[in-house]
Amino acid sequence: MAELKVIALPGDGIGPEVTAGMRVVLEAVAAKHGHDLCVEEHPVGWTAWEAGGTPLPEATLEACRKGPAVFLGAVGDPRADGLPPSERPEAALLTLRSTLGCFANLRPARVDDELVGKSALKREVAAGCDLVIVRELTGGLYYGKPRGNDGEKAFNTLVYTVPEVERVARVAFELARKRRSHVTSVDKANVLEVSQLWRTVVDAVAKEYPDVMLDHMFVDRAAMELVTFPKQFDVMLTGNLFGDILSDEASAMCGSLGLLASASVGGDVGLYEPVHGSAPDIAGRGIANPVAAIRSAALMLSYSFDLLDEADAVERAVRKALADGLRTADLTESGERPVSTMEFANAVAEAVE
Ligand code: IPM
Ligand code: MN
Repeated sequence: MAELKVIALPGDGIGPEVTAGMRVVLEAVAAKHGHDLCVEEHPVGWTAWEAGGTPLPEATLEACRKGPAVFLGAVGDPRADGLPPSERPEAALLTLRSTLGCFANLRPARVDDELVGKSALKREVAAGCDLVIVRELTGGLYYGKPRGNDGEKAFNTLVYTVPEVERVARVAFELARKRRSHVTSVDKANVLEVSQLWRTVVDAVAKEYPDVMLDHMFVDRAAMELVTFPKQFDVMLTGNLFGDILSDEASAMCGSLGLLASASVGGDVGLYEPVHGSAPDIAGRGIANPVAAIRSAALMLSYSFDLLDEADAVERAVRKALADGLRTADLTESGERPVSTMEFANAVAEAVE
């Protein structure tokens, strides 16, 4: 029996709805497997700003630092558009990622057999695809200094150091070893010095993994290959911005942005978040797809708590709900009746073995 302490940050938009869905599943798996679950919720994002003038209250950050596992629903709200960059909801997430030292963001994108018809790609292109994007998460353009915008001129800095590239490359190679032993490193080395260094460092790390095949691909080509021949990919290793873009593209391959989960690892505390955002257009209606959130909880069970059977039980329960034909609105055809966020989550919770 393990004690599972989870800091949950529901956040903005559909964040609270998918967090509630995730929680019933986590409760079910903890009960079935005899674990003690303690979920502590804290405010973040626009919700926190509205209540207290900061998107990341000190108490929230402090709770997250203690961990050992943090779940974040979503951050972002159009009402925050006029705020200075440091007060935007997204700033809270970026501070959280870097404070927790979560430098590697794992984003599995597998096309479920049940949903292959929902892929934006042709059935024969999408069927059987199974890849993981390993996105560098605490460096690159998102964090580089100097940065600024005086209304006439705006600039950001792209910078990576050798140790930053080494450590995330190692995560990708280790992961590849447990999968199909193939890493595709994505860069723009035909134009950017940073990418040239990236390539050199990844090549050097690859020497420690002679059993893993490595190739390099320019990001524009990778974007094209992802929609024409995605089966070639096993682990895609990317910098921060490229990984952000390619993971949304990969979600279209899977059928919906509402399906993709992520685990951010590398520090003492793990951070788990759906790849999707706060989706203000559908917030508050109880129709969001909770699969990304539920799968993020499965990643938490395996990465933060080393409970592989429990993670597997959650994954199988999601597949069962899909196989039973349950679909949230993002996945229904016209004429099909969509289930609500909680109907789907409750069905998954009931299916947990
Ligand atoms: C993501 C999101 C975030 C990112 C935003 C909300 C800051 O798009 O996790 O993919 O760009 O990293
Ligand atoms: Mn994104």
